[in-house]
Amino acid sequence: MGCHSIWGNGGTLGPDFATVGAGASLQQLAGMFWNHTPRMIETVRARGIEWPTFTEAEMADIISYVYYVKLFDEPGDPELGARWFLEKRCIVCHEVGGSGGDIGPALDRYARYLAPILLAQGMWNHGQKMREAQSERGIPTPTFVGREVADLQAYIRRASLLRDRNVELLPPPDPNRGRSLFSTKGCVRCHGQGGRGTPFGPNLLMATQRLGVAEIAGQLWNHSAQMEQAMQARGVTFPQFEDTEMADVIAFLYYLRFYDTEGDARKGQVLFAEKGCAKCHARDGTPRLGPDLSMSQAVLTPMGLATAMWDHAPAMYDLIRVRDDVEWPRFEGDEMRDLSVYLRSRAAAARSSGPGRTNR
Ligand code: HEC
Ligand code: HEC
Ligand code: HEC
Repeated sequence: MGCHSIWGNGGTLGPDFATVGAGASLQQLAGMFWNHTPRMIETVRARGIEWPTFTEAEMADIISYVYYVKLFDEPGDPELGARWFLEKRCIVCHEVGGSGGDIGPALDRYARYLAPILLAQGMWNHGQKMREAQSERGIPTPTFVGREVADLQAYIRRASLLRDRNVELLPPPDPNRGRSLFSTKGCVRCHGQGGRGTPFGPNLLMATQRLGVAEIAGQLWNHSAQMEQAMQARGVTFPQFEDTEMADVIAFLYYLRFYDTEGDARKGQVLFAEKGCAKCHARDGTPRLGPDLSMSQAVLTPMGLATAMWDHAPAMYDLIRVRDDVEWPRFEGDEMRDLSVYLRSRAAAARSSGPGRTNR
């Protein structure tokens, strides 16, 4: 907090965590943390602060938190929202702030919320009837791109007769509850465990990659008519959502990307050499500067690797600084993930070769 802010609250030395690293997975964020260790080591030393070390669980929590805060999108644009309300013909059937049609209910009550989730949930729950009303009148069923749902919410908040009332704050979305709702609401029957897809529904990890909450909500709506048909065909009742249920399911979808851990060990092996790790970390029992990582407990999990690297960063930094054959390794894209898969597979091989042979 001394150096970084979240939505502008906190220090100004480092970037704001609400905007940096959007859409990055756990290991990409770990890579980003790692990349800035040299500067951080210098800053911390110059200020006489101790290097913050982490347990594996703490590192997982802190990266998860940095990922989580991005779930709270910025509010939409009420000007654009007014335009969508007109163009998408919501105004034909819905009243807001005393003007609009009365074929559907007035939408003023949604003005109590900041986030657009409840609006999206209302549309989902009433989707079937709404689509009927639309087709009776020859009005095309609206679809959403980008942050249009958030814009609509911002417009409803501005135009509504309730606008001066207090905001109703909802409990923060809970991806773990979302995971169980994903099962109990039947999503898992077509989209599979962890949303990885089945012949009856697409892989949602790809579909939700890099999307924020308002965008995922829009996407859910866009597909809801077809999903409803698919559900009817498979005898699944179209689920209704209450209170924060849709927000929780969306948080779960948002977190799918976080745990992207399947990497490429061959690429990882190349990286181990290219990034200079091999120069210090013995692979063959010859004396080197750093420990043999295939014997390390730390490399057995992605978080363990990230934590151990972080905690040892100052020691590595001092060693690298006095050598001219190694540069400070930096990680882009999924390199950290691939390196982790490689180190894990080596550690597993060393362990299965049994005691006595591990120091070959
Ligand atoms: C052709 C008319 C029509 C259009 C156009 C239409 N709706 Fe609706 N909408 C309805 C009807 C009818 C209902 C109530 C359905 C029911 O009773 O289940 C409804 C329900 C809703 C609800 C749930 C209301 C509640 O009280 O919980 C929301 C939210 C909503 N619509 C939003 C929208 C938005 C946003 C748009 C534009 C993108 C839109 N609607 C366009 C007819 C329409
Ligand atoms: C009966 C099968 C079925 C069930 C149950 C189901 N879906 Fe789907 N879902 C589909 C199909 C089929 C598509 C693709 C539809 C299309 O292309 O418009 C889809 C599309 C989606 C998409 C958009 C994916 C993309 O590629 O853009 C999301 C998000 C989604 N579903 C989430 C959910 C959630 C959340 C639930 C549970 C509330 C759910 N689905 C339940 C079959 C299902
Ligand atoms: C200049 C030498 C050097 C380079 C280059 C280097 N390391 Fe290290 N590394 C060390 C030293 C020395 C230690 C032990 C530091 C300590 O004990 O505090 C260490 C410790 C570690 C640990 C902790 C092991 C454990 O079991 O706690 C991991 C993991 C690690 N390094 C991974 C890497 C990776 C991955 C790379 C390449 C991206 C790399 N290192 C590059 C010198 C280096």
